[in-house]
Amino acid sequence: MYKTANTAEITAEQSAYAKRTAALAFKIYGKTPKACVVTFGCQQNVSDSERLKGMLTESGYIMTEDMTDAQFIIFNTCAVREHAEDRVYGNIGTTKALKKANPDIIVAVCGCMAQRQSVAEKIKRSYPYVDMVFGTQVQYRLPEFLYKRLSGAGRIFDLTLDNGEIPENVPIKRDGTFKGWLPIMYGCDNFCTYCIVPYVRGRERSRDPEQILAEAREMISAGYKDITLLGQNVNSYGKGTDYGVNFAELLRRINALDGDFRIRFMTSHPKDCTKELIDTIRDCEKVSRHLHLPFQSGSDRILKLMNRHYDREKYLSLINYAKEQIEDVSLTSDIIVGFPGETYEDFKETLSLVKEVEFSSLFTFIYSPREGTPAAAMDDPVSREEKGKWFSELLKVQEEIAEKNISKFIGKTYKVLCDSKGSEDGFMSGHTSGTAAIEFKGGEDLLGKFVNVKVNSYDRVLLGTAEKII
Ligand code: 5AD
Ligand code: SF4
Repeated sequence: MYKTANTAEITAEQSAYAKRTAALAFKIYGKTPKACVVTFGCQQNVSDSERLKGMLTESGYIMTEDMTDAQFIIFNTCAVREHAEDRVYGNIGTTKALKKANPDIIVAVCGCMAQRQSVAEKIKRSYPYVDMVFGTQVQYRLPEFLYKRLSGAGRIFDLTLDNGEIPENVPIKRDGTFKGWLPIMYGCDNFCTYCIVPYVRGRERSRDPEQILAEAREMISAGYKDITLLGQNVNSYGKGTDYGVNFAELLRRINALDGDFRIRFMTSHPKDCTKELIDTIRDCEKVSRHLHLPFQSGSDRILKLMNRHYDREKYLSLINYAKEQIEDVSLTSDIIVGFPGETYEDFKETLSLVKEVEFSSLFTFIYSPREGTPAAAMDDPVSREEKGKWFSELLKVQEEIAEKNISKFIGKTYKVLCDSKGSEDGFMSGHTSGTAAIEFKGGEDLLGKFVNVKVNSYDRVLLGTAEKII
């Protein structure tokens, strides 16, 4: 079993490096240096980038969105589909000219794609202007890597993936002021046959519940109103530890904290999703009425090939239980179209499941082979073009469902968190405890506030009237 507590020494060491980096970087650049963090991929990466920004701030850098204005450029990458990787290579390429004009700039690549041996080797060989490549489990060492490189060390490549202690107290610079991410665990042990994540993020490791609660308290007192708990498979939180806290219990403990805030979480795996969890969502008033439960495919044959460990029947029984227990529950899912060997008959099973459940929204992907995963070696006779047709068919079905669902909202009042400007001047937008966005008349002073909104109509978005600011 891994340890997660008492990593204070590790973070203190990095903090000391950060201070030395700040002094050295200022000397080299003759001014306060700027850092540009470019993030690809999922919320986990967005959350990791907030920690990268925290460490860079401690290292004396100020953040910029403008790559051409930065002395340090870091790409936090995603490997989940090929398209994501192609985009990263394109972006790294643009730093070549910047570096030529100003050789003092430092360029780094980290995250899931960087963790792949073949990618790190390709960068080593073909992208000599990249100064450092490091993997997902050593990101907390950024201040040290930066200090060493600024001091004249050679290019740094560190892909250590030893599933060791989770370093706590890494500084964080959050992107938002009222919506925030809170990672509760890292890694994945499921090895779905199409997925690269277990290879690039390593084994499942849960954070100490006390650390999670401390971070939640900090966020609440800083004014965060919407906290999303993150993990590849949050339902297996606590497994393999002696904390004695499972995910449902963690939710109950966060729910019991004082304050007016909302708790969201992602992602749940159907094989570990329990009635206890659904009951907990029902019973905890701060937990959003939303369940993101990816089913990936509606065909039992394909689910077996995917190594998902549940079947259509089990999935539907969970969904039906959630619908029964949680009033107005918003259900969302991830779906892969065109898994190797999937036939149109299999795909029709996915379509029928989508029709049966009536999801609020879907995240749909065409299968993308990932080198090193079992699925990449499977026979894949269906053309990309054919898969594209299936994909469009799925989108059309979901659009019809979404349209049909709209009428459910009209005339009802929802508590929304006002989170952005609306699509027209004078309007603001907010999300319900489910996943619906509603627009209403109001000013920017409402940002970050809970507002009761009565839905009147639909015109590309749900439109309502603000009744009460909470
Ligand atoms: N190809 C297509 N989609 C994938 N996903 C994961 N791996 C692949 C892949 N190789 C999708 C799954 C997962 C979501 C985050 O990304 O649907 O739930
Ligand atoms: Fe990938 Fe499956 Fe783990 Fe999700 S549960 S990250 S799809 S291996």
